[in-house]
Amino acid sequence: MASSDQGSSGAPKPVPGSYGLPVIGAVRDRLDFYYFQGQDKYFESRIERYSSTVVRLNVPPGPFMAKDPRVVAVLDAKSFPVLFDMDKVEKKNLFTGTYMPSTDLTGGYRVCSYLDPSEPTHTKVKQMLFNLLLSRKDEVIPTFRSNFSSLLATVESELAKSGKAEFNKLNDVTSFDFIGEAYFGVRPSSTDLGSGGPAKAAKWLIWQLHPLVTLGLPMILEEPLLHTFHLPPFLVKGDYKALYKYYSAAGKQVLDMAEGLGLSREEACHNLLFATTFNSYGGLKVLFPGLVANVAGAGEKLHERLAAEIRGAVAEAGGKVTLAAVERMELTKSVVWESLRLDPPVKFQYGHAKKDLEVASHDGVFQVRKGEMLFGYQPCATRDARVFGATAGQFVPDRFVGDEGRKLLQYVYWSNGRETESPSVGDKQCPGKNFVVLVGRLLVVELFLRYDTFTATVSTELLGSSVVFTGVTKATSGPGS
Ligand code: HEM
Repeated sequence: MASSDQGSSGAPKPVPGSYGLPVIGAVRDRLDFYYFQGQDKYFESRIERYSSTVVRLNVPPGPFMAKDPRVVAVLDAKSFPVLFDMDKVEKKNLFTGTYMPSTDLTGGYRVCSYLDPSEPTHTKVKQMLFNLLLSRKDEVIPTFRSNFSSLLATVESELAKSGKAEFNKLNDVTSFDFIGEAYFGVRPSSTDLGSGGPAKAAKWLIWQLHPLVTLGLPMILEEPLLHTFHLPPFLVKGDYKALYKYYSAAGKQVLDMAEGLGLSREEACHNLLFATTFNSYGGLKVLFPGLVANVAGAGEKLHERLAAEIRGAVAEAGGKVTLAAVERMELTKSVVWESLRLDPPVKFQYGHAKKDLEVASHDGVFQVRKGEMLFGYQPCATRDARVFGATAGQFVPDRFVGDEGRKLLQYVYWSNGRETESPSVGDKQCPGKNFVVLVGRLLVVELFLRYDTFTATVSTELLGSSVVFTGVTKATSGPGS
């Protein structure tokens, strides 16, 4: 069923809300978003003010980086999926929203994330990525396990030394190597990149995302430095060149395959760099700390249940972590989906209305004009109490267990599509969907094969959670590895 025809009755209404005065309204809203209200409150307060989950508002960064900050926000589980409907929205040049980073940061190319499926290159690049992930599917589990068991060994030695271990730092280094090894069989740290890969990647990511983040510095510094002008691409050129060199050598086989799909080697390599460094590495940088934070916060009772389920399934598989064993871990799977629901790592989605549209929320149908920018703040949709009930804002580990639980998966949107659907070359759903869900599960598996329980402190940082392990209790039973 199309998202605008979901059965809300009544004549279409104009979308309520206000953009305020030109320039001043957008700057004022940006300050609300970053400093005075914060993201969640920014959207919640506007839903409240206009008694509507479809509402007109400004999104950051606004002047002078974005030509037009005005959007129609879809902020509930029912209206949000209009953004997945390729007949209704065009997704050209709006991966980062109302501004687009310079293509000087991507070798002069508009990479896949910025292409609409109607553009022929989109199909070719997405197919390249599907082929890559399929060809490496048997490498994911062993590569994950070797990289992350070594991370946990480091956690233990840091705990022994100083009583704490910063997960995010270790995760950055480990995820970067893990992805390179899983995709290409070559650990970036064993090449000329050395240990510098994650820092170079992080700097390049900041150059693209600075308009959307706050570093926690005083407003008077951040506004001119981060939110008003683009950082000059030449300052990150050397870092990008070093990353490119790694991908063009390590990704040789993928690039050969890409040429067969009709892509030039150079365009394929810039895309490979982006999908690996921005989409994959950037994703795991946020996903894993969020997942560990939620599991830590749920406490020892959940840990006991996870350990029992995971060790039982692994024992049944002859002591091995196999895909089939992981598939049997109902609670583990639910925990990962619940974390993706509660804290979707990519929170903003955009699309231009291809034609005049009617968008239905739970409460009414709204008229959107051709060319208007639709925008979804995903946490509002995936924490919608009309779908997830009174616990919508809480981490409920077994929410997706059982037949009833599974029915809710259609409302999990982290991949820019429903969790019950699969990405294709004709849409904009994340091609890494299965990979992401699998590695999330593998992280939980690794934790509870090794530990009976663990404790951590959690705070917020740039794009998500910051996690510091404060204690681990080694496993007292089970297959052990
Ligand atoms: C697209 C999320 C990991 C490759 C997307 C989109 C989201 C997303 C929300 C849609 C963006 C938009 O157009 O509005 C995530 C998250 C990840 C993750 C949260 C990890 C936690 C990956 C991985 C890959 C990948 C591992 C590796 C192939 C891509 C690409 C696109 C995309 C190429 C553009 C798709 C298209 O143009 O059709 N991802 N992703 N992502 N993702 Fe992922």
